[in-house]
Amino acid sequence: MKIGIGNDHSALELKREVVEHLKAQGHEVVDYGTYTSESCNYPEYGEKVARAIVAGEVERGVLICGTGVGISLAANKVKGIRAAVCSEPYTARMVRKHNDAQIIAFGARVVGAELAKMIVDEFMNTEFEGGRHQTRVNMIMEIENRD
Ligand code: RB5
Repeated sequence: MKIGIGNDHSALELKREVVEHLKAQGHEVVDYGTYTSESCNYPEYGEKVARAIVAGEVERGVLICGTGVGISLAANKVKGIRAAVCSEPYTARMVRKHNDAQIIAFGARVVGAELAKMIVDEFMNTEFEGGRHQTRVNMIMEIENRD
């Protein structure tokens, strides 16, 4: 699978480990930055990965900031995107099965590298169930059209 990854300065080392892991699983990874430890603004990277998904450049996304929250909030402002913050693998599986999330987000100050690898594995290896969950996902996305 082709996966986009984005992060802020708090997550450089964790990103490196996650990218290595994803590649070892056979995925192609596109790194949308940031690339240095210089303090930066996480919305920029959340938006970049979200837009890459909408444009069809990548199929799924991984976003990492200190908590995973700020960068996911930014991604969710892009029309069509469902980004979910997950700190453990069960939720990572369920946001694919029930919510058809295209982006998983987590915090470099919250999860360690081994847990992060389990989270991305569940996320990448789980398919959307559809059916009644499609109806609910459609309802979520219709909210974007009511502004
Ligand atoms: C940066 O210090 C921090 O605010 C950011 O990584 C993230 O946790 C925001 O949600």
